[in-house]
Amino acid sequence: MQAQGKTMTGKRCVVTGAASGIGRVTCTEFARAGAKVVCADINLEGAQKTVEACAGDALAVRLDVTRPDSWKNCLDIAVEEFGQVDILVNCAGIGRNGDFEAFSLADWNALIAVNLTGTYLGCQAAMRLMRPQGSGVIINLSSIAATTGGADIAAYCATKGGVAALTKAVAMHGAAHGMRVCALAPTYVDTELLDNADIHFPSRPAMLDLMAELIPMGRVATPKDIADTILLLASDGAAMITGSTLYVDGGQTSGMPSRHSE
Ligand SMILES: NC(=O)c1ccc[n+]([C@@H]2O[C@H](COP(=O)([O-])OP(=O)(O)OC[C@H]3O[C@@H](n4cnc5c(N)ncnc54)[C@H](O)[C@@H]3O)[C@@H](O)[C@H]2O)c1
Repeated sequence: MQAQGKTMTGKRCVVTGAASGIGRVTCTEFARAGAKVVCADINLEGAQKTVEACAGDALAVRLDVTRPDSWKNCLDIAVEEFGQVDILVNCAGIGRNGDFEAFSLADWNALIAVNLTGTYLGCQAAMRLMRPQGSGVIINLSSIAATTGGADIAAYCATKGGVAALTKAVAMHGAAHGMRVCALAPTYVDTELLDNADIHFPSRPAMLDLMAELIPMGRVATPKDIADTILLLASDGAAMITGSTLYVDGGQTSGMPSRHSE
């Protein structure tokens, strides 16, 4: 895969949600590929741990993706340290689940604020910064939940569907200016995001086994599966891809696991 080796040499990246899960591994993979990385998260201590895990040039910045002033501060620091930004990965996200009829407005608002408004503000700030240079890539994290409903994750589904639609619209805005905007739609990934789901199962391995049964490839994704695909979309090898949401789901949304002959 092109993501291996030093394919990102000289690229300047900002990754949000960098303190954990997919964001953390995306930072370490970008650094391993030769990029300079701003590891941005509301959890600065966690982002600093990610910096320690990065092989190359990386720094931690506290960013609350729901706040425009926090975005300005983060991108100002990125430009001050690295001169410009070439790639933004909007990875910060939260998950909350529960019975649809009992789901609180506070939980709905929190999901919209981080997953959707946070991605919107990131796209807007990065577009303002990168468009004048005539090139740049923005990658957003959607989910299989964008197109496959879950009764107890309705609000999460709505935010991820919104991210996929936003990605298309922002891609249209940037296309004539050399900017690409893509999204990824992962299946279940074994990260802290699933912590609020595993309490409903006898154990975490039991939950992951049940999730794996829904995936034709027979396993949940790892953060590295997703990070590798992010690097691929961010690379020049994806130069003609914009507006698309790439499903990284082991076939989950393409069809049913082959169980019909048993
Ligand atoms: N894990 C999965 O199964 C899965 C599947 C599909 C899509 N995704 C998406 O991938 C992205 C990354 O998820 P993950 O699994 O790595 O989750 P995670 O919980 O491991 O990491 C999320 C990170 O976002 C940060 N964050 C939360 N609110 C923030 C805010 N206001 N400002 C800045 N940072 C904030 C957290 O501190 C954390 O470090 C999310 O957008 C998620 O919705 C995850």
